[in-house]
Amino acid sequence: MSAHPGAHGATCCVGLAIETIALGHTYGRSGAPVLCDVNLGLEFGRITALWGPSGSGKSTLLSLLGLLMAPTAGSVTVAGHSAWTSPRATRRMRSSLFAWVLQNSACLEARTAVDNVAMGVLAEGASRPDAVQKATAALQTVGLAERARSRAVDLSGGELQRMTVARALTQNKPIVLADEPTGQLDASSSATVADAFRELARAGRCVVVATHDYTVADRCDLVVAVGTKPVKT
Ligand SMILES: Nc1ncnc2c1ncn2[C@@H]1O[C@H](COP(=O)(O)OP(=O)(O)OP(=O)(O)O)[C@@H](O)[C@H]1O
Ligand SMILES: [Mg+2]
Repeated sequence: MSAHPGAHGATCCVGLAIETIALGHTYGRSGAPVLCDVNLGLEFGRITALWGPSGSGKSTLLSLLGLLMAPTAGSVTVAGHSAWTSPRATRRMRSSLFAWVLQNSACLEARTAVDNVAMGVLAEGASRPDAVQKATAALQTVGLAERARSRAVDLSGGELQRMTVARALTQNKPIVLADEPTGQLDASSSATVADAFRELARAGRCVVVATHDYTVADRCDLVVAVGTKPVKT
């Protein structure tokens, strides 16, 4: 694995972004496994869809890949580092490696869309003008240029979802994990978001998307069927 600056200035890597070996997860002590024997090799520069019906384990798998939750079986390696070796190492991996697009991502409702997106860039040490410029460009990419100055509280569900995608686009993280990022979008907006993810992958990121949306899956390099059957890529 080697690191190089990507097209958007992000540090991107070459090779395997995430590897899982015999990964499995069971909630509670006596429940049935949600996932078992998942063996994935997800590369930088590619988009993977996690595909399956409601309840099949897509969000669970995404949480395991992004180190939000420890697996009950098997192992996860991210950017060449074994996960869960210590709490400190895990926190560092979480904050340095992943940008998230979650269904109910927190935002500052009274602030504008551009402020909400710029916050993440400011947190990475950019100047205010740089952060606003990046945020404005990302909002344009997801088709929200005209709503940039609207307060988050005044945005529709789909517009908020695209604002969350714009926030992930601006973050300088090598791996982007998205959970149903187009769940509230029409076909045209879904295609816009999927194209933005494609561009991230082209710039060297590893993008993993849990989705039910054919528009998104069609643009992915790999579609992983999630469920209780073993998975190998
Ligand atoms: N915290 C939890 N405790 C117990 N069971 C859980 C928990 N989270 C999820 N589950 C169960 O694990 C299974 C997989 O859930 P998950 O949310 O991963 O599915 P999903 O494929 O993302 O579904 P959807 O498409 O509806 O979002 C479901 O049966 C769910 O009820
Ligand atoms: Mg889910």
